Amino acid sequence: MVMGRKTPLLLFFLLSVASAEVFFQEHFDDGWENRWVKSDWKKYEKMAGEWNHTSGKWNGNPNDKGIQTSEDYRFYAISAEFPEFSNKDKTLVFQFSVKHEQKLDCGGGYMKLLSGEVDQKKFGGETPYSIMFGPDICGYTTRKVHAIFSRDGQNHLIKKNVPCETDQLTHVYTLIVRPDATYSILIDNNEKKSGSLYTDWDILPPKKITDPNAKKPEDWDDKEYIPDPEDKKPEGYDDIPMEIPDNEAKKPEDWDDEEDGEWTTPTIPNPDYKGPWEPKRIKNPNFKGKWEAPMIDNPDFKDDPDIYVCPNLKYVAIELWQVKSGTLFDNILVCDDPEYAKKLAEETWGKHKDAEKEAFKQSENKKENKKEEVDKDEDDSEEEKDDNVDDDEAVGKDKVDDDVHDEL
Ligand SMILES: *[C@@H]1O[C@H](CO)[C@@H](O)[C@H](O)[C@H]1NC(C)=O
Repeated sequence: MVMGRKTPLLLFFLLSVASAEVFFQEHFDDGWENRWVKSDWKKYEKMAGEWNHTSGKWNGNPNDKGIQTSEDYRFYAISAEFPEFSNKDKTLVFQFSVKHEQKLDCGGGYMKLLSGEVDQKKFGGETPYSIMFGPDICGYTTRKVHAIFSRDGQNHLIKKNVPCETDQLTHVYTLIVRPDATYSILIDNNEKKSGSLYTDWDILPPKKITDPNAKKPEDWDDKEYIPDPEDKKPEGYDDIPMEIPDNEAKKPEDWDDEEDGEWTTPTIPNPDYKGPWEPKRIKNPNFKGKWEAPMIDNPDFKDDPDIYVCPNLKYVAIELWQVKSGTLFDNILVCDDPEYAKKLAEETWGKHKDAEKEAFKQSENKKENKKEEVDKDEDDSEEEKDDNVDDDEAVGKDKVDDDVHDEL
């Protein structure tokens, strides 16, 4: 078991939830590099990005560091091993926090659980995994939480839409899978989605299907409204003309009967004319509702009570492509107790989220001020330097000067 020994408080808390079985827990304290293996994937193409061990540009606790992607247009692949286990007959909880400091416009923030033997030095996008879970953002169309179970080389994506957080603050993502094949997805300790692995993934064919041989009975009345048989056309209805002479019209003074023909009164639409008569419509007393084929047992369904089981779980891993870097992972947990995970999230993210929000606000204000300064200095001799300093970098440097970062 890998355990972070960060603060006495956290340690106390870990002891106080004694019933939980923790398979993996990582807070990225010093020494984290001994527990994680950076893959050589994409390294020789010079496309492998470096991780930065940091609490980020804004945070609620500068001592709580994680690992952050630090180079744009790079692949990232890193993993850590834990004693192999199977979640059969156990609840599986997979949780981590992620913060997209770069205002992610396209990229992933998800993690994976791998099974069996993996050459961690070669781990990459092609390495099979058992579970992939976490946020994925691309433009305005993809803003979702992935929850993928891999079975026999096939990836099964969740069929429900679970929106993810899109701001630049830390959020905790939790996946819970129970032995009764139910699941829950939580963000910041709030349940966003729950249900069954049977229905919300197509790992197995559906238990029930609509009977393909069923036919709508001939006498099935699915008309909700019908013409009122009692309604009768009023007498003289058809005698009402569509148009009537315009009595206000006058023959123009310069009208010349000889040249223009005989003047006749023009017509206008008749306000009394209501169109062809139609009986009024009433609710159909025989209405049976919309016909639906009955559900029957799916002959192709073969139950697998182990639908939720991932045997030989052995690694947590991050494998990402990032156009813009700045995604920071922290407080990773694999355990069997949702209550434990919830408390851990409270002790880490929950305790510092307000301070982080405040730090972010200040950072944004500084950025605004910096921008104004740069605008003012535009004509100065400093011009060429300004051109090279992007706003983010400028704020980062400011922050380092102001804050007491023990690592710097
Ligand atoms: C690591 O993160 C800190 C805090 O955001 C930043 O100041 C520093 O420049 C980063 N280092 C690298 C190598 O990206």
